[in-house]
Amino acid sequence: MSPRHRSSAPLLAPATANRLCSSRPCRCWTAWWPRPLQARSKQATNKKQACRPSRPAALKSPPLARGRAFLSKGLSMQRVFITGASSGIGAALARFYAGQGATLGLVARRQAVLEQLLASLPHPERHRLYALDVNDHAALTAAAEDFIAAGDGVDVVIASAGISQGTLTEHAEDQQVFEHVFATNVLATVATFTPFIATMKRQAQAGQTGLRLVGVGSVAGIRGLPGAGAYSGSKAAVISYCESLRVELRASGIKVVTIVPGYIDTPMTQVNRYKMPFLMPVGQFAARTGAAVARGSSYQVIPWQMGVVAKLLRLLPNWLYDLAFSKAPHKARKTAD
Ligand SMILES: NC(=O)c1ccc[n+]([C@@H]2O[C@H](COP(=O)([O-])OP(=O)(O)OC[C@H]3O[C@@H](n4cnc5c(N)ncnc54)[C@H](OP(=O)(O)O)[C@@H]3O)[C@@H](O)[C@H]2O)c1
Repeated sequence: MSPRHRSSAPLLAPATANRLCSSRPCRCWTAWWPRPLQARSKQATNKKQACRPSRPAALKSPPLARGRAFLSKGLSMQRVFITGASSGIGAALARFYAGQGATLGLVARRQAVLEQLLASLPHPERHRLYALDVNDHAALTAAAEDFIAAGDGVDVVIASAGISQGTLTEHAEDQQVFEHVFATNVLATVATFTPFIATMKRQAQAGQTGLRLVGVGSVAGIRGLPGAGAYSGSKAAVISYCESLRVELRASGIKVVTIVPGYIDTPMTQVNRYKMPFLMPVGQFAARTGAAVARGSSYQVIPWQMGVVAKLLRLLPNWLYDLAFSKAPHKARKTAD
């Protein structure tokens, strides 16, 4: 048994009662074990693991716990701007952050739906609605400036607005759909972030932490799905774009978080007539996303099972991928809305 844990403390008692420990309080993890197990602990004996002075919980806890610690402490003061807030993932994130006490800027085209959402949130008077099309970049910039002015800054910007449509390149009329999908999913993500960056950089220089730009990719962006050239291509572009931005802003104090959803139960997927593996309820997805954003994760596939699928998909050689996915189900084609 390590001399550090030889004491008269009762079985399973924390090491804070241990008088032989050099640091106060002792935080050595083996001290929480039943004594017979402590005796067998190679970490405590062979490697002479010292009982280190206690460190802040955020530095030593696992990432999810760190995220939760951050959420419980920091979110009540947060100013969060979310596009695509009238439905699905954006609406669930609005409920999540409002539940934590954050002040929100909510963007979507359907004003009546935004108003319904607002009425259902705690402290509706705190939040601001912006009924606009994210492809109208001037309107998006004006909304960003209004939100910054109202809250004297911003903490988290989430570009969740997006559309998904089936496309086939052989049909000339699908060119329009390609343009619309790329404009909404990719260029509007850029236009959502742009008006916030200078302000966030100033906030970071003033010592503020927790500044985040959040892009929403998709597992459909990991490999090209047949019949979904526009959607897969746009989400691959979002993932690469967010990576570029993350590196560009590395030293700025702003973290870029790429969230990569698998199948999430929202109006976007409720129309799908095929089996969706690991389909996740949207509220659960929002909580996981909130934790990933809080801990400043660079890239997070949610749910994790789809992260494994995404890794495997990357490894598949083209001939095998083509064989496996040549008949994959996909969304029906339609002309641009
Ligand atoms: N659900 C999934 O399984 C899944 C998987 C991977 C990725 N994603 C991504 O997650 C994001 C959210 O998807 P979701 O499932 O929540 O879809 P959703 O329920 O259909 O919601 C889409 C949101 O985007 C908004 N939007 C669409 N076009 C817009 C425009 N031109 N201007 C302003 N707002 C616009 C819609 O609001 P208005 O119609 O009111 O404008 C709505 O609030 C999308 O980027 C999607 O690609 C979803």
